[in-house]
Amino acid sequence: MLCLVEIILYLTAGSLFLNISRQVRFARACDGAANGCRGAVAPLGDRLLGADESLPLNYLSTPYILTIKLAWIVSVKKTRWHRMTRKTAIITGAARGIGLATAKLFLAEGRKVAMVDRDGEELARATKGLKNTVPLVFDISDSAQVAQMAAEATAALGRVDALVNNAAVADFGPIETTGFARWRRVMETNLDGVFLCSQALTPALKASKGCIVNIASISGLRASTLRVAYGTSKAAVIHLTRQYAAELGEYGIRVNCVAPGPVRTKLAMAVHTPDIITAYHDAIPLNRYGSEGELAAVIGFLCSDSASYVTGQVIAADGGFESTGIGLPSLRQ
Ligand SMILES: NC(=O)c1ccc[n+]([C@@H]2O[C@H](COP(=O)([O-])OP(=O)(O)OC[C@H]3O[C@@H](n4cnc5c(N)ncnc54)[C@H](O)[C@@H]3O)[C@@H](O)[C@H]2O)c1
Repeated sequence: MLCLVEIILYLTAGSLFLNISRQVRFARACDGAANGCRGAVAPLGDRLLGADESLPLNYLSTPYILTIKLAWIVSVKKTRWHRMTRKTAIITGAARGIGLATAKLFLAEGRKVAMVDRDGEELARATKGLKNTVPLVFDISDSAQVAQMAAEATAALGRVDALVNNAAVADFGPIETTGFARWRRVMETNLDGVFLCSQALTPALKASKGCIVNIASISGLRASTLRVAYGTSKAAVIHLTRQYAAELGEYGIRVNCVAPGPVRTKLAMAVHTPDIITAYHDAIPLNRYGSEGELAAVIGFLCSDSASYVTGQVIAADGGFESTGIGLPSLRQ
């Protein structure tokens, strides 16, 4: 609506400007002509412009100047209005992989995005050339850093509509050799980080009636070998999602979870051997790994108004892996 008014005002102002400049040119030509403008029809109206007559000064004032001023005011107000209403998001672990793909999707939707990662170099590379981003180098497993990140992100964005808790570490190992240090290393990012970021940003999300999307994993839905810490952290994220959805619903905050199956990212490739890649291929009904963009699309949906009545849910974006409890490759051949 505002846009239509603006277009009309600009068109009016434009045609007035053209009209005025035609008249100024005409008047100048008349000034220079030996016989004045006798016989010519001046665009001032249907009257003749005398040889020594110049354009009246007040011709350039109301209502022409007023129209131009009005167009300018509407345009400034529209920019401010756009800034105040433009949707925003904070994504943790946004320097690469699923987090980066989600940031790009949000940017394409016109959101302003705070991209948080503890890897400053990778984050600088990722954000180079991306407009409307706020790169924030913080470690989300550290409560003091999370408090500072939340303050800086909120100040830079003005409002927070979505928080995507995506950062995680994958550190796999057998139960018997998983010491407390490895357990804590996984838990402090994958679980504590989700809790800390959600707590710190709840006031801003209350103000915007925003949403949280937590990224868990198929490993949080189905137990497997080597994932005592990772799988348990992701199962906890799924339950944390439901706890938050239950309590924050009354503020209009929606909280959902995406559980990716295998996606070809740096995290996955660090722990998936060629054998594992082949086995996944056989065990997944869609017979392939997911892409970062496919995960971003599900996260984007949960953050959108299309999901306005969805909260407390876990969506497995996994090519059907989770749904096939006895989908043994030999039973499918
Ligand atoms: N890739 C997969 O196959 C897969 C499968 C299931 C679940 N997931 C989940 O999806 C999410 C994204 O995975 P990805 O494959 O894109 O990962 P990735 O390793 O490619 O990216 C993770 C990013 O998080 C950052 N990060 C890690 N710990 C951090 C911390 N404490 N503070 C700030 N930043 C930190 C890293 O620097 C990195 O840039 C993770 O939650 C992961 O567990 C991935």
